[in-house]
Amino acid sequence: MSNIAIVYHSGFGHTQALAEAVAAGAQAVSGTKVSLVPVAEAEAREAELDAADAIVFGSPTYMGSVSADFARFEEWTSKRWMARAWQNKLASGFTNSASWNGDKQNTLVQLMTLAMQHGMVWVGLGLAPGFNHSKSSIEDLNRLGASIGAMAQSNADQGVEGIAPSDFRTFEALGRRVAEAAGRWKEELLAKAA
Ligand SMILES: Cc1cc2nc3c(=O)[nH]c(=O)nc-3n(C[C@H](O)[C@H](O)[C@H](O)COP(=O)(O)O)c2cc1C
Repeated sequence: MSNIAIVYHSGFGHTQALAEAVAAGAQAVSGTKVSLVPVAEAEAREAELDAADAIVFGSPTYMGSVSADFARFEEWTSKRWMARAWQNKLASGFTNSASWNGDKQNTLVQLMTLAMQHGMVWVGLGLAPGFNHSKSSIEDLNRLGASIGAMAQSNADQGVEGIAPSDFRTFEALGRRVAEAAGRWKEELLAKAA
């Protein structure tokens, strides 16, 4: 059984719906337990994060970066950093913003840097870029062509109905990949300990 925690912030619900898609993808891998942890609850749920085999970080892109709420969580994790509490856990990340580009790459780099500071092992998206040739379409997985983690685009004047179904499928794929990696990672660590 591997445990995956998804720590996310969402000001207006879009990133939350996408975090739920990551959770659904992870849950589909047998032997996986998934918890969704809004950043506001992270401190109170510290033990859950410490017990996770993988932590997936998710933030909307606000002003080309993680949101202020997520940045506050990042600084809070310095306590866990001092204890090396997350050393060798798997990590991954996702973001969402209104523009197709919107400087989302910067947010993913920031999430990966957080994981690297903690000594975690980063799991990228692992999907070829979609929607980048004459026969491709918006329905392609990874239509925004990310590699570090998952990216979604949500129309500024709509709720979650303004997010392309392919983005939800891309986020599910990220969840599956992290869960499969966590299962293998845990088996290896258990075999070494035996
Ligand atoms: C303070 C603020 C800053 C934003 N900055 C960006 C940005 O840099 N790039 C972008 O494409 N969208 C930007 N947006 C749009 C959000 O990324 C978009 O609405 C997203 O879906 C919000 O996710 P949430 O509902 O989970 O908060 C910004 C929105 C807010 C409120």
